[in-house]
Amino acid sequence: MSDQERTFVMVKPDGVQRGLIGEIVSRFEERGLKLVGGKFMRIDEELAHEHYGEHEGKPFFEGLVEFITSGPVFAMVWEGQDAVAQVRTMMGETDPAESAPGTIRGDFGLDLGRNVIHGSDTEAGSAEREIELFFDDDELLDYERVDETWLY
Ligand code: PPS
Repeated sequence: MSDQERTFVMVKPDGVQRGLIGEIVSRFEERGLKLVGGKFMRIDEELAHEHYGEHEGKPFFEGLVEFITSGPVFAMVWEGQDAVAQVRTMMGETDPAESAPGTIRGDFGLDLGRNVIHGSDTEAGSAEREIELFFDDDELLDYERVDETWLY
């Protein structure tokens, strides 16, 4: 059980509207990742600007803020071996049209502005920053799964 790490994942408003929360959670569970936090919530303007701050000024920024604040999202923290990169691989490319079938965006999306899911990027510190932004420490649960000592 080496390289255990945590990553921030969010089912975006389009994924919630389309009833994809369960499907997406299942994929991560079946892969062997462990859910350590989950929250059904609305993102306000302030949180949206903080979360996507690095993209401020880009042509898509205002539309992205409008979209992400338009309805509830399901925010999660997943833990596991190499979790940040594994989740990114399972999500597919930013543009669903370029995502391979079998990935979440490749199976459920077509439009770049409606790409169903967000996951922390692999840049150092990104996952930690996003987890802290969305979750208090006491909302993240430390627990052992009965199978994890030998199965994963
Ligand atoms: S960049 O410019 O390469 O840094 O952008 P990228 O990392 O690919 O994307 C940053 C987030 O912005 C979303 N995005 C868009 N939303 C709407 N319309 C357009 N054209 C668009 N381009 C990028 C993209 O989905 C990323 O959001 P997250 O939630 O991180 O996936």
